[in-house]
Amino acid sequence: MHKVTILISGTGTNMKSILDYEKSHEDCPFTVFKVISDREAKGLKTASSYGVETVELDRKSADFSEKLEKAIAGSDFLVLAGYLSILPEKITEMLRNRIINIHPSLLPLHGGVGMYGLNVHKDVLKCKDKESGCTCHIVDSGVDSGEILIQKKVCVMPDDTPESLRNRILPFEHEAIVEGLLKLIKRWEEK
Ligand code: GRF
Repeated sequence: MHKVTILISGTGTNMKSILDYEKSHEDCPFTVFKVISDREAKGLKTASSYGVETVELDRKSADFSEKLEKAIAGSDFLVLAGYLSILPEKITEMLRNRIINIHPSLLPLHGGVGMYGLNVHKDVLKCKDKESGCTCHIVDSGVDSGEILIQKKVCVMPDDTPESLRNRILPFEHEAIVEGLLKLIKRWEEK
């Protein structure tokens, strides 16, 4: 059984979709081992309600990286689910090709430093893109730059606001993050 640790910074609806998948599939190939946040995060309460061990860290503390390394020890896979801190290189190297992220755009469009949350959707609307969506990708040493595993598209409506676009994409993120995790686990199992 593969142990998956999920990193969050906020509400954790993407994290919840992974927890719900595990709960509703007897043949689930993974178990959520731990949920870690880099700040106070509502998602920690949700994770506890599923009986999952949680760790709240402080990204501003001097020993944050060391504490994060310790907290993820024993994980087979990491999932960044709305996680807003950049992972230390040591971790991306330690778990090379075993870390995934969910991003609310069709990468490589509207990705990179500063592209998170509503900033992404504001950029899509500013560029007058006709479609947007979400991407589940492997995390490498760059920002939003690793191999794409899953993409889901939605159309951009003429009267869309950043919030309405975010709300339309979020349910597809919940699908993409589970499909991306399952795809990566399958790849490792077939190695
Ligand atoms: C999602 O839009 C995700 O794509 C982005 O941050 C948001 C997190 O949402 N990285 P949640 O905390 O999973 O609800």
